[in-house]
Amino acid sequence: MERPLMVFSGQSNLPLAQEIADNLGVPLGKSTTERFANDCLFVRYEQSLREGDIFIIQSLTPPVQDHLVELLMMIDAAKSSSAARVTAVIPYYAYARSDKKDAPRISIAARLVADLIQAAGADRVLTMTLHSAQVHGFFKVPVDHLSAEPVIANYFATQVDRLENAVVVAPDAGDIKRASSLARRLALPIAFIDKQRLSDTEVTSRGLVGDVRGKTALIVDDEVSTAGTLIQAAESLTQNGAQAVYAAFTHGVYVGPAIDRIEKGPIVEVAATNTCTYNARPSPKIKQLSVGPLFAEAIWRIHRGESVSSLFT
Ligand code: R5P
Repeated sequence: MERPLMVFSGQSNLPLAQEIADNLGVPLGKSTTERFANDCLFVRYEQSLREGDIFIIQSLTPPVQDHLVELLMMIDAAKSSSAARVTAVIPYYAYARSDKKDAPRISIAARLVADLIQAAGADRVLTMTLHSAQVHGFFKVPVDHLSAEPVIANYFATQVDRLENAVVVAPDAGDIKRASSLARRLALPIAFIDKQRLSDTEVTSRGLVGDVRGKTALIVDDEVSTAGTLIQAAESLTQNGAQAVYAAFTHGVYVGPAIDRIEKGPIVEVAATNTCTYNARPSPKIKQLSVGPLFAEAIWRIHRGESVSSLFT
């Protein structure tokens, strides 16, 4: 007996969940989330899940703690409703930057979140562009780790004029691998910025490695949050002679001063995929790229027991 494929969503990114369901040709499953007067959440499925192959879509965007607890409760409720298999689909995995003990007396929160998701009962995880690959290793259950690189490469490739004399830029050392992979795909050179983080919202640039003079700079990073990294990189590139600066991200979190910084900064356009809902005020400089079809294809392959990695080769 084939297990029915069912897709449900938490509250964090309903438009993406609907897009994924539409691409799969299945209805988005019915569930309810409420908040009690004492701030505790209540989750309930409005249809049977018995023997189903359940995919629960939830990005861990702000308010992160609410969305995480809602995801845990949805996994738990699905398991106790006799689902055959539960996959946590987490387009944006929060806490991923807390992936090592690089200071005394701190929590490796990315691992703690992985422990919670598994303790709730997830049988597998599907996610995209983790801040660092080691987060993948915090899970004992299978993880399918998608990359937004094909979507970002296609986006840049449609702007042929931008690619004529362009360079891909990693805005910090942690992004060099990502930038180099995109640069190979687009047959472009790379440059990188030696970034130093001063605080949660402020960064400074200590130097630039590579030649950007007279070129179009294409910054690529896993996420834009407060846009401190982005604007510092854009300023450094402009000071070093870049003639135009574009940027593309997997995750557009856009918190705090992000939109102001982007609007006032020396950057022509910022593109990010829709792993996070866009709740910030609209800006003509900001563009959204869709990863709905990619997630739908990955879910279909997981459901059918087919290779997901071959999506990228
Ligand atoms: C940091 O290592 C990440 O790759 C991003 O550069 C960072 O998360 C961006 O944060 P923000 O936009 O607040 O500078």
